[in-house]
Amino acid sequence: MKATDLLKEHHQEVEELFERMSQADSDEISALRDELVATLVSHTAIEEELFYPESREALGASPLIPTSYEEHALVDVMLQKLLSTEPGDETFHARLGVLKELVQHHVEEEEKKLFPQVESAMGAARLEELGSRLEARFGQVRKSDVEALLARNVAKSMPAATGRRARTAKPSARKAAAKRPPAKRAPKRASTQRAEPARGAQKGRRTTTTGRKKAAATAPAKTGRAAPARKPSRPAKTSRTGRKGGRASNASAR
Ligand SMILES: [Fe+2]
Repeated sequence: MKATDLLKEHHQEVEELFERMSQADSDEISALRDELVATLVSHTAIEEELFYPESREALGASPLIPTSYEEHALVDVMLQKLLSTEPGDETFHARLGVLKELVQHHVEEEEKKLFPQVESAMGAARLEELGSRLEARFGQVRKSDVEALLARNVAKSMPAATGRRARTAKPSARKAAAKRPPAKRAPKRASTQRAEPARGAQKGRRTTTTGRKKAAATAPAKTGRAAPARKPSRPAKTSRTGRKGGRASNASAR
């Protein structure tokens, strides 16, 4: 049998299992769920081990193949969720429905786009030979511990994402925590006078407020008045750089 015909047969079997599950009673549905898991896990295993690598070799670079791997990963996650859900639970049929949509989409992509391209790229003899290997391997995987295989597949696809979050979240949180407090505490004490000059080069208002009172930092008119009394040279500089025109003239008007 041609490789693509064998895979289409599996697709048909899976579609029939979904249909039977939609009509099954609670006693029957667990067995059907286990059969669905075994069939899908074995099917995706032979595609990933044999069919996709050979298809990539025949087609060259194609976005269809990496997309298929990603869709398999999503199917695996939903299969594992389904395995961990009691058929009587209200989420069971919700998960089954999402899984069915994922599988149907994946099957459509393969049968309408990938398989025709692979059939054109591989000769008939190669398709037959690949079909034989797929069938033999499918039998082996189907008899193995498919739930353990499924768990390994999910573990392989998920840690990368969670690991990145863990690594990036901690350092950024530490940096943010380290930067914020000093910025708020600085104006309260004399230490601000060391930090201010660098900021003052960009923000003229703060250069004048390195003094002692917060009021001077937040009320431009007040700083205009108070500064000359304390240090005559500073207000003159800030009025040019920090408050061009309007505010300086307002302060002097008052
Ligand atoms: Fe597939």
